[in-house]
Amino acid sequence: MVDEYPDILAGGEWMTGHSGELFEDRNPADRDDLIATFAAGDAIDIDEAAQAAKAAYPGWMETPAPQRADYVRRVGLLLEERKEELAVLMSREMGKTLRESRADIQEGIDFAIYMAGEGRRMFGVTTRSELPNKFSMTVRHPIGVAGLITPWNFPIAIPTWKLFPALIAGNTVVFKPAEDTPLLALKLVQMFEEVGLPAGVLNFVTGLGEEAGAALVDHDAVRCVSFTGSLDVGRMINEKCGRMMKRCSLELGSKNILIVMPDADLDLAVEAGAWGAFATSGQRCTATSRMAVHGSVLDEFSERLVARVQQYKVGPGTDPSTDLAPVINEKQKERVLEYIGVGQSEGAKMLTGGHTLDDGEYAKGNFIAPTVFRDMTPDMRIAQEEIFGPVTGIIEVGGVDEAIEVANSVQYGLSASIYTRDITNSFKAIEKLEFGVVYINAPTIGAEVQLPFGGMKSTGNGHREAGPVALDEFTEWKAVSVDFSGKLQKSQGID
Ligand code: UN1
Repeated sequence: MVDEYPDILAGGEWMTGHSGELFEDRNPADRDDLIATFAAGDAIDIDEAAQAAKAAYPGWMETPAPQRADYVRRVGLLLEERKEELAVLMSREMGKTLRESRADIQEGIDFAIYMAGEGRRMFGVTTRSELPNKFSMTVRHPIGVAGLITPWNFPIAIPTWKLFPALIAGNTVVFKPAEDTPLLALKLVQMFEEVGLPAGVLNFVTGLGEEAGAALVDHDAVRCVSFTGSLDVGRMINEKCGRMMKRCSLELGSKNILIVMPDADLDLAVEAGAWGAFATSGQRCTATSRMAVHGSVLDEFSERLVARVQQYKVGPGTDPSTDLAPVINEKQKERVLEYIGVGQSEGAKMLTGGHTLDDGEYAKGNFIAPTVFRDMTPDMRIAQEEIFGPVTGIIEVGGVDEAIEVANSVQYGLSASIYTRDITNSFKAIEKLEFGVVYINAPTIGAEVQLPFGGMKSTGNGHREAGPVALDEFTEWKAVSVDFSGKLQKSQGID
């Protein structure tokens, strides 16, 4: 059954899109399963939403932070209450396995708990003045209207990383979710309505990136943009925001790596490699899309990894027995297949996978067999470019220094992991890896919300989400000094 949702929320009013254009939301495991149609929002819809956000801003920024945070706490409770029902919907809309959909929602719940307390902290510093009878402190100030553009791979978790701190900090929001997962985003927005968030504080526009997303970035009233997605789009947003002098935070692609040293616990390294590469069918920014394995354990590691991966049951995410779910849409399926072809033509050796699954129960979905290459070299395109699908490749290395060099040889720097029992290898990795998230004896995926999340180099532009710095993305620092000397005092020694 197809529901038509009124999917634009501006100033507390739900409406259908101004143009009347719709786009379809389909199940990646079954393209005949049309979940819903959504309004293809355009610049006019964005304008309405942004004006509403601007109008709501003065009232919201004056609302005490503990009260602002309490809406987030209550949304966290609703997420917890509806976890199972939302997980089923997420597996149908986004495709990932039920256990991963539950984890996605759990990440949102965890973050609500973590951030809600921030409403009563929001600490600044106090410091001393060089002058007598003068007091100094810092306070956080909201930026204004925040434009949030989120990806489809974590339909709840990533929106919460942006929405919760933006709102707690006192910003009002226009939220534009990925066109592949608008329904989960809509559910999240409706929860904010349910807990009584004042009209206009959170506005919502579904639509395509080129149209609604671009209009949001361009809008004068929007003072900061937070985007998670591809490097190409991130670059465009960064350029626009640069010209318009807007705050902009980007979480873009990566080429994450698992390093396996000869002293590693190979059982664990194989499990970590398989999980890191193929969870969410490789569609995580943190996915293990490269492995740098020491020559002395290369054959054994490769064989065991392939054996493990071949046990995976490919199927729809909604089936509890599925290990490997489909990729998000046909375009992505084509892109992944193209990369598999590139890997073969570059001379990497395919150990398993490399093909789609199209027969019987797979006929209507975007299913790709988990694919492992070996004899990958660091200069190959499949070793350098983000694939975002169930494909990984193994590079042979001779030692920890070479492994780190290989790891750092890409333009990205989000997540890196090393399996070793050697303290020197571990600390070399900690010191030298140019990655924002580093794991010792843990897979490249599975970041926890109390830690800052983000990457170095082209993965982003220096911002981090979640963790103790979550508010930095959405606040300005204000340095405040109070002179109670009763006279004009001049700093830097002027008398
Ligand atoms: C992402 O894919 O953009 O580290 C985020 C992880 C998750 C977050 C991934 N907690 O795997």
